Amino acid sequence: MTQTSTRTLIRGGRLITAIDDYIADIVIEGERIVCIGQQIEAGPDTKVIDAQGLLVFPGGVDAHTHMENTFGPSVTCDNFDSGTRSAAFGGTTTIIDFALQEAGTSPLDAIARAQQKAGSVSHIDYGFHVIVTHVDDQVLADMQHAIRHEGVSSFKMFMAYPGTVMSDDASIFQAMRMVGQHGGMIALHAENGTVIDLLIREALAQGHTSPRYHALTRPAIMEGEATHRGIKLAELAEAPVYFVHLSAKEALKHVIEARDLGIPVFAETCPHYLFFDESAYADDSFDMARYVMSPPLRSKEAQNALWTALKTDDLQLISTDHCPYCLKEGHRGNINQKPLGADDFSKIPNGVPGVETRMTVVYDGGVRTGRISLNRFVELTSTAPAKLFGLFPKKGTLAIGSDADVVLFDPRESHKISADTQHSDCDFTLFEGHHVTGRVKKVLLRGEVLIDDGQWVGPAGGGQFVARGELGTHF
Ligand code: URP
Ligand code: ZN
Ligand code: ZN
Repeated sequence: MTQTSTRTLIRGGRLITAIDDYIADIVIEGERIVCIGQQIEAGPDTKVIDAQGLLVFPGGVDAHTHMENTFGPSVTCDNFDSGTRSAAFGGTTTIIDFALQEAGTSPLDAIARAQQKAGSVSHIDYGFHVIVTHVDDQVLADMQHAIRHEGVSSFKMFMAYPGTVMSDDASIFQAMRMVGQHGGMIALHAENGTVIDLLIREALAQGHTSPRYHALTRPAIMEGEATHRGIKLAELAEAPVYFVHLSAKEALKHVIEARDLGIPVFAETCPHYLFFDESAYADDSFDMARYVMSPPLRSKEAQNALWTALKTDDLQLISTDHCPYCLKEGHRGNINQKPLGADDFSKIPNGVPGVETRMTVVYDGGVRTGRISLNRFVELTSTAPAKLFGLFPKKGTLAIGSDADVVLFDPRESHKISADTQHSDCDFTLFEGHHVTGRVKKVLLRGEVLIDDGQWVGPAGGGQFVARGELGTHF
């Protein structure tokens, strides 16, 4: 990205951080915020952005996305071009995506491959978690190297999907023990993979092939069991642990208990669990494939518990798990998408889009409804992910010295969400037809305006890799 040499003055907006709420001006020089004050004079070379009547947030940080991510025969339909453009339109200026350790290769190879994919293509800043699929002494040494020298300090491990990415308990424990000693963190996909696998085989043998059986074969109690096991492994390893895409009340219960005991357990949930529930799996039609993500949608009761936990800090982040696969084959050239599982739900690639809608739907359905405060909204979508994953205070706040990643948001403007007007390469959004109030108007990444009133005005591919340091300094 070309450096902005001019000063930019964002004038008269209502600045919201995780703790502040006041009307002020922001001065940006180059890539950073250099001054926050009131009635600041614009100099001769100053570009002035009028923010009166608008909310001013730090750029969103989404700690869980899958751009151009390969799982089995399927690749997510957003790459770092379409996916990060979509993120920017939704007010997110930093993502933490995934680098997959392929069989027999090092986590360091995974990082190198992911860097190549994102490279000059990403429109917003990015980091990586490595998905660790195999652990041995060399892998542990390479993970330590990644924390120290590659700016990658978090690693996802799967307790589900046996035979592909699942790790056994001993491997998870070994990895936790190592990262606990070196300032890293393991993020767990907590579902009991082998039991779920059995339930899937039984359902298919009985002729239950439609997408709704995806949900029926992944019971909440098996997310609870794996979450409890993950916490115990982390306790023994004396390491912090992070649970991705937490959806079940049975899992939340264990997170709350552990946190009450002062154990460093953290967890995110995702907009799809906050706005949809298991009643969505209404019939045996293939259209239900749009709700095939793991874990699946849960009960209304679980959903209410998630909202409460967001308020009480038992859940710390809202991430999207943006993992889009199209409902139709061939949309924008994407193949091996959801129809792969037309005759067998277990072959439907798991995942849904969400990176473009996160900030708006959480504002509309969380802040406007009084479920969370404005400050908490910023904390959940920007500050806490930045803090937990080693990006703060560069990212996640509006402060002198922080990157000038800024979102101007109109809290009154209403619009209808539709896949047709979004920027993702996915052919659907779960929020199709939803009327929401609150709209991203302008987005700045390190001082450069990317989005202005629904138009892309920034340079292409200006995102940078953000090296993350040791974790835990801000939590
Ligand atoms: O269904 C999901 N969540 N797909 C993405 C992969 C993962 O487990 O996060
Ligand atoms: Zn997962
Ligand atoms: Zn995911």
